[in-house]
Amino acid sequence: MEVVAETERLIIRRITPDDAPAFTQLDSDPEVTRYVTGGVAEFDDERLGRWLAQYERWPGYGFFAAVEKESGEIIGWFHLRPEGDDDDQPELGYRFRKTAWGKGYATEGSRALVDRAFAVLGVSRVHATALAIHGASRRVMEKSGLRFIRLFHGDWPYQIPGDEHGDVEYAITREEWEEDRRRAERDGT
Ligand SMILES: CC(C)(COP(=O)(O)OP(=O)(O)OC[C@H]1O[C@@H](n2cnc3c(N)ncnc32)[C@H](O)[C@@H]1OP(=O)(O)O)[C@@H](O)C(=O)NCCC(=O)NCCS
Repeated sequence: MEVVAETERLIIRRITPDDAPAFTQLDSDPEVTRYVTGGVAEFDDERLGRWLAQYERWPGYGFFAAVEKESGEIIGWFHLRPEGDDDDQPELGYRFRKTAWGKGYATEGSRALVDRAFAVLGVSRVHATALAIHGASRRVMEKSGLRFIRLFHGDWPYQIPGDEHGDVEYAITREEWEEDRRRAERDGT
């Protein structure tokens, strides 16, 4: 079981085939996939196979289980994924079961993964996207240090109510991350 990050309340670790039921259950709630697929469950064996294969192709990156320390249960996942072999600007993503929402978990884990991306993996930039109307995800991106970059209209396979308002991209560069760390140290936060 390879742990990639540990926070106050979460263990973030590589996914294993035994985790499949937890991710099937996660996607079975249409509210969880509402702003991603419009309520359609995505997870299946083929997807699991791709996630596992990505660890070989991009060590250090990929999809990771978020395990709540208190309960020992998988409460969701994060991803930090490059788009190609030379990509040092991975995309951050997250998905949690509804009972875990609103407790700061997505922000807590995202911050740890952003720190790891710069400090351990040596990336130059981390970015994330969401539907413009997805207030909670936008807030997680902001609280994780990412800055608003642009509004755009992505070409997605699913029609989602509200997608006419477009998508947003947020990102943080290495320079911004270093500056934020210096400021936090100075302010003692
Ligand atoms: C988006 C998601 C990951 C957020 O996870 P979370 O653990 O609840 O996030 P956090 O608790 O760290 O932070 C959520 C923030 O959004 C705010 N928020 C919640 N709903 C909101 C809304 N409709 N509009 C604006 N802000 C909202 C919360 O108040 C909180 O901000 P605060 O700490 O300043 O009060 C979670 O809702 C989820 O898994 N959704 C389903 C999957 C998904 O949509 N993933 C993202 C795809 S882009």
